[in-house]
Amino acid sequence: MKIAMVGSGYVGLVSGACFADFGHDVVCIDKDTTKIERLRQGKMPIYEPGLDALVEGNVKAGRLSFTSDLGEGIKGAQAIFIAVGTPSRRGDGHADLSFVHAVAREVGKCLTNDAVVVTKSTVPVGTGDEVERIIAAGGTPYRFAVVSNPEFLREGAAIGDFKRPDRIVIGAEDDFAREVMREVYRPLFLNESPILFTSRRSSELIKYAANAFLATKITFINEMADLCEKVGADVQDVARGIGMDKRIGGKFLHAGPGYGGSCFPKDTLALLKTAEDFESPVRIVEAVVKANESRKRAMGRKVLDALGGADAARGKKVAMLGLTFKPNTDDMRDSPAIAIAQTLADAGVSIAAYDPEGMEQARPLMPQVTMCDSPYAAIEGADATVIVTEWDAFRALDLARVKCLARAPVLVDLRNIYKPEFVRAAGFEFVSVGRV
Ligand code: UGA
Repeated sequence: MKIAMVGSGYVGLVSGACFADFGHDVVCIDKDTTKIERLRQGKMPIYEPGLDALVEGNVKAGRLSFTSDLGEGIKGAQAIFIAVGTPSRRGDGHADLSFVHAVAREVGKCLTNDAVVVTKSTVPVGTGDEVERIIAAGGTPYRFAVVSNPEFLREGAAIGDFKRPDRIVIGAEDDFAREVMREVYRPLFLNESPILFTSRRSSELIKYAANAFLATKITFINEMADLCEKVGADVQDVARGIGMDKRIGGKFLHAGPGYGGSCFPKDTLALLKTAEDFESPVRIVEAVVKANESRKRAMGRKVLDALGGADAARGKKVAMLGLTFKPNTDDMRDSPAIAIAQTLADAGVSIAAYDPEGMEQARPLMPQVTMCDSPYAAIEGADATVIVTEWDAFRALDLARVKCLARAPVLVDLRNIYKPEFVRAAGFEFVSVGRV
């Protein structure tokens, strides 16, 4: 089956490469000619474990190719995926649909056969109707249907998430669309991955509801962590204790510095806008957005406290380990590290940092930070060492070496990757999240 993937960013590239790996014939399309040229040379535009090998293997096998020519790329495709960005629109937080609409216009003009147009980009409820109107306005003589098929890929684990999904959600309005989508996902269906067929609008909302729920779960445990610190409880025990209840589930209950990334912050905001437009408030999500936003700077203040308070902190040095919003990605979008660094810099603290993949993206966002080429280089002369992102490389730091290099043995673990007793036994002052 021939599949066209319009948009070769994170979602498009991972999905396209995985579909090719399942044996489909896939063309990834992007208007960014430099990106396409680099992809043809095997250079990935993003860091995602396993992606380069997956792309290379499928290009070699002749199942995956790249083009900047949309008309050429969609020729003969039975399924045309739209996987372009839907950033927060400047000013109002609505999802910016201009890229999605532009693709729909072009697809409408270029169709050469009957096809299903599948929106994979995260789009507000009703976007499928608009995409359908736009394509129809192009006057195509071919039969087409517009389907919603949201992605549930986590950065850093995207290939595994694609190949072994908890579920596949398909929002389709007619049998032709459902037939084609069944064929697209047949390899996964054979794997017994559940496929949920819904209406297009339900499918569009499922994506936002899922991300908002996960963001709520994280924010809930983060607030419990704050309470744990006040009452002398341990948030990890609380998370375990509630997570064992199958109705709650143990995942996404790691307390930390607040969620970041390209999805939760943007999608929660967009859901609020939809709720506002339809006069159906989602007050829980409103509270989540506010709590998460203020949490990031609060984490900066936590570090200042570990330095003896804002006054004592002035002129001191902090080592930040990890900058990306989570490990195994180079993505800095909405990373808590940005607000933490800003809070520290505002208080006159100097910052040295190390991140295994994110420093290039971090540099323009954090001009106050000196980037170092190893964790130990960042720790040299530091009055406090702060773990901001739980990269594996920080899980077994040589604490004796840290103590030697740092000016003071103070460790702030914002991801709870160290056991307090262990770090304290090594002679450190230790601060973590939701544990005393
Ligand atoms: C998220 C969802 O998990 C995916 O299912 C979804 O497809 C994707 O958004 C999307 O909409 O495209 P992602 O943003 O890559 O994926 O990363 P997550 O692993 O979900 O982490 C998001 C943020 O929550 C990170 O900042 C992470 O550190 C934080 N988090 C996660 C916690 O603080 N605690 C947890 O228990 C889990």
